[in-house]
Amino acid sequence: MNYILALDQGTTSSRAIVFSREGVIAARAQRDLALSYPHSGWVEADPMALWQGVLAAARSAVADIGAAHIDAIGIANQRETTVLWDRRSGLPLHNAIVWQDRRTHDACEALRAAGHADFISQAAGLVIDPYFSATKLAWLLDNVPGARERAGRGELCFGTVDSWLVYQLTGGRVNVTDPSNASRTMLYNIHRGCWDQDLLDLFDIPRAVLPEVVPSSGVRGHTDARWFGAELPIGGVAGDQQAATYGQDCVRPGMAKNTYGTGCFIMVNTGAKPAACERLLTTVGWSVDGRTDYLLEGSVFMGGAIVHWLRDLGVIGHSSEIEALATSVADSGGVILVPAFTGLGAPYWDAGARATLTGMSRSSGKAHIARAGLDAIALQCADVLQTMRQAPGVTLTELRVDGGACANDYLMQLQADLLGLPVLRPRVTETTALGAARLAALATAGGDGAGGGIAWRLDRAFVPSWSDDRREAAIARWRRAVAHARQWRA
Ligand code: G3P
Repeated sequence: MNYILALDQGTTSSRAIVFSREGVIAARAQRDLALSYPHSGWVEADPMALWQGVLAAARSAVADIGAAHIDAIGIANQRETTVLWDRRSGLPLHNAIVWQDRRTHDACEALRAAGHADFISQAAGLVIDPYFSATKLAWLLDNVPGARERAGRGELCFGTVDSWLVYQLTGGRVNVTDPSNASRTMLYNIHRGCWDQDLLDLFDIPRAVLPEVVPSSGVRGHTDARWFGAELPIGGVAGDQQAATYGQDCVRPGMAKNTYGTGCFIMVNTGAKPAACERLLTTVGWSVDGRTDYLLEGSVFMGGAIVHWLRDLGVIGHSSEIEALATSVADSGGVILVPAFTGLGAPYWDAGARATLTGMSRSSGKAHIARAGLDAIALQCADVLQTMRQAPGVTLTELRVDGGACANDYLMQLQADLLGLPVLRPRVTETTALGAARLAALATAGGDGAGGGIAWRLDRAFVPSWSDDRREAAIARWRRAVAHARQWRA
């Protein structure tokens, strides 16, 4: 039996998971990644430590199976994080600037004040924000001595983490990215499917520094024999949220996925045409077999982080206790938590909002607050999905779920009830790695059929049970509480 190695390189850890062609996990390994915070709002990672962590995890997982049994490698990566390195030596010029880094806030404000928001949104599908790579790369070119001149001469490579890993894995022979990662740089035209000269001019980025954009599925090179004792084909690459969407097999318009992690990342497939929605991001999902799929994306800052906050507050002793405590009462007793601890993400985009706990009475206890905490996760996601539903041409059909909190049955049932849509939990909830494996499997012999023959399998469907009136009343109460949190400025 042959296998696919998926590398899931995230913000704080690198995981390697070996899947069988049936989509069963056969081996796994993980290495943590340390971040550094040189100034307030700055977040950096050491690119060499990141690469060494990926390599160590990959070698450990491959050792359990044997390199001879690995057909291909797929990569899913933290997106937007920006690396600049020397094309010849492969050495980075600076730490990677991580997606969370806010150092280019003023540069973004200046772009907005100069009236570039509409043009950027139309070409790149994104809102002006330090989150994306363009201003991070411009910062590196302006602040690393000699970098701009060397970049212009073609001596340097810029890449998101996928490009950096492919470059290292191939021993410096291949410098490419895929459209899902390119669409997070703010330099890529999502309609024409290429780097956009007007965006490059706006951000003052020399074209010579950019990687070539190749399809998400397809062999882009082979690993250097040093790493695994064999030259393994790298068959698929996608940004982690897009990979998770592909891993959830959301390949038809209207299919959506939600990853319940620290925050929640919600994506809906809008088909072969990009859909625009003012308060959401438009992004490339993947390009497979000559077809590009587009997604709408909305993220919520506080998902599982609410459970951690309740734990730190002493409401629960351990995160695993939340479901039992929350379901020990019939409802939240009118308590509503709006978890705007760091402002509100999609669809409000209100950085100044602050968290509120409202509706308490003398009988409100820990269980009611725990329940309000879980309710807040589902209510925030319902707001994003409701906004997606209002985008022209989007008809949601179902929500597929993954991430740690999807194991919480109460939360998943509530999500279905609030949406009036089925919520489907798969058997393999490592959907990010699974998506990378599916993209790679498609590119290799024997990888015929959807997802390269690696199937998506259902664990449990949560069927909505509320009446329209009940659902609308719950959402109306939530929106009143959100309005209250937005009035209470930081
Ligand atoms: O856009 C950022 C996202 O790709 C990071 O995801 O799961 O690595 O924190 P994660």
